Amino acid sequence: MNQTQKKVLRIIEDLKEHLSYLKLFGFQEIPVEIPSLENFKNDVSKKPLTNMSLTLSEIKEELGDCRRCKLFSTRTHIVFGVGNKNADIVFVGEGPGQEEDKQGVPFVGMAGQKLTDIIEKGMGLKRSDVYICNIVKCRPPNNRDPEKDEIDACSSFLEKQIKAINPKVIVALGKPASSTLLGRNVAITRERGTWHSFQGYQVMLTFHPAYLLRFYTEENRRLVWEDMKKALSAI
Ligand code: URA
Repeated sequence: MNQTQKKVLRIIEDLKEHLSYLKLFGFQEIPVEIPSLENFKNDVSKKPLTNMSLTLSEIKEELGDCRRCKLFSTRTHIVFGVGNKNADIVFVGEGPGQEEDKQGVPFVGMAGQKLTDIIEKGMGLKRSDVYICNIVKCRPPNNRDPEKDEIDACSSFLEKQIKAINPKVIVALGKPASSTLLGRNVAITRERGTWHSFQGYQVMLTFHPAYLLRFYTEENRRLVWEDMKKALSAI
C-alpha cells in the first residue's frame, strides 16, 4: 500500500469513528451543503479525476538507478524533473542535453534559458511555479533524438509524474514530446497552437525552445507567444 492509499485509509477510519461518536449522541443524519459540492465540481472541472496516484518521490524511488534502456550506460545523472509538485502547468521536453546530464536538472542549458525566459518574462510566472520534465530521463548520446525503445522504457514514468501533479495544462515542447504524448507522428509546424488530450489532460503543442534558438525570428517568437497565451487561458 502506498502513502496516499494509507492516508485515505486513515481518513476513512477517522470518519467512521467520528460517525459512530455522533450516532452515540443521537444524530440520525448529517446536513450537506449542496453549494459547496457545486464549488468542488467547478474547481476540478478542468482536471481529470485521478485515482490514487503515486507521489513524485515514490515515482523517483521506483525509477531508482534505472537500467531499463541503453541510455543508462552513457548518462552521468538521471534527470527526473523539477518544479512545483502541484503545478497547473507541466512542460514536457525531449530529453536531457549535456548540461542537464551534468547537473541532473532539466532545461538548464541554453534551451533551458530560453524556456525560463518564456515562462518568466513571457508568461509572468516563476520557473518554480511550473513543473518541467522530459519524455526520457537520460541523455541520448550527442543529443540525438530519443529512440522508440528508450521512449517506451520511460513513458510510464512520465505518465505517473503527470498524474501525481494533476496539472490543468500540459505544454508539449517540440515534435518528439508532442508525438509521444499524442501517440502518433505530430507535424509540429502545422499542429503547434492546437489543443489535444493526453489521458484526459489538455495538451498545448508548441515549438521546442531549441528550435527558437536556431530560428529566432519575429514570426516564431510571436507563434510561441500565441501558444503560451492559450496555455495561460486554461489555468
Ligand atoms: N532539451 C530538452 O528537451 N530537455 C532538456 O531538459 C534540455 C534540453
